[in-house]
Amino acid sequence: MPKLTVEGFETVDVEDGKRLVLAIEEDAKVDVLHACGGNARCTTCRVEFIDGEPVRMTAAEKAVLQAKGATNVRLSCQIVCDHDMTVRAISRLAGSGRPDPGGKPAPEVTPPPQWVDK
Ligand code: FES
Repeated sequence: MPKLTVEGFETVDVEDGKRLVLAIEEDAKVDVLHACGGNARCTTCRVEFIDGEPVRMTAAEKAVLQAKGATNVRLSCQIVCDHDMTVRAISRLAGSGRPDPGGKPAPEVTPPPQWVDK
């Protein structure tokens, strides 16, 4: 089972292959945002990697990060937990002024992933 550490929170075991956004929310119990419901459109699910950053990314993640000029962040809705990871949750419901974190992301990566190199 991969281990997930969100900086400042307890390390937790995560089901292999689980979406990182869901692991942060459900397993690490951290109030990560996911305003577009996990569809690689909003970037509110962004995290900074401290350790274990995946070398591959979905084409959707690459496109939206490039379009927004976002560097040194990854989209947790586009990442699956298949190895140990340590992240910093930099986009959370607390302090966001939003009424809720966003629609519940599906269990699988959406849109259907095309994997590319980072
Ligand atoms: S980009 Fe919107 S939840 Fe990930």
